[in-house]
Amino acid sequence: MIKMAVLYHSKSGNTCRMAQAIADGMKMVEGVEARIFPIHEPDAAYLAESCCVVMGTPTYLASMSGEMKTWLDGDARRLGLAGKLGGAFATADYVHGGADLAIQGILSHLMVLGMLLYSGGGACGKPVIHLGPVALKDHLEEAEPVFRLYGQRMANQAVKIFG
Ligand SMILES: Cc1cc2nc3c(=O)[nH]c(=O)nc-3n(C[C@H](O)[C@H](O)[C@H](O)COP(=O)(O)O)c2cc1C
Repeated sequence: MIKMAVLYHSKSGNTCRMAQAIADGMKMVEGVEARIFPIHEPDAAYLAESCCVVMGTPTYLASMSGEMKTWLDGDARRLGLAGKLGGAFATADYVHGGADLAIQGILSHLMVLGMLLYSGGGACGKPVIHLGPVALKDHLEEAEPVFRLYGQRMANQAVKIFG
């Protein structure tokens, strides 16, 4: 089994719910174990063994949440994420509320941490997910299939590289 993790910040539960959908998609790929953790309660031993770590944030002021940024600036740097496959996702209230910018901000941090970035991009066909999946607060249920598919795509790529 290869291990994968989804780390998230979530104040009112939306981002947590979508983290679970991604992990569910990862687990649909044979030989993959996936778990989710709030950023402030990670299982360091499990993360050390994980070959892929995806991170999610609510969108705050067209950016990642302050909690996510503070965590990325500090604790995340001590998790030994270099060389692992990474990705990012966000939830938001509004379609034009800046979720892609929140995702892009996380992806920049993951590069600084030395991670390998992946989303599938346009190469996996439709539905196209360029930077990472976005779910809107009032449409979480309809976004879940896309989040599961993203999890599957991340897991398929992780198996190709690390399996
Ligand atoms: C301080 C604050 C700022 C926010 N700013 C935005 C924003 O700029 N754009 C947007 O679409 N939603 C914004 N939202 C809404 C959240 O991104 C959205 O409700 C999110 O799904 C909450 O995630 P959570 O339930 O995991 O905490 C904001 C919410 C808060 C509390």
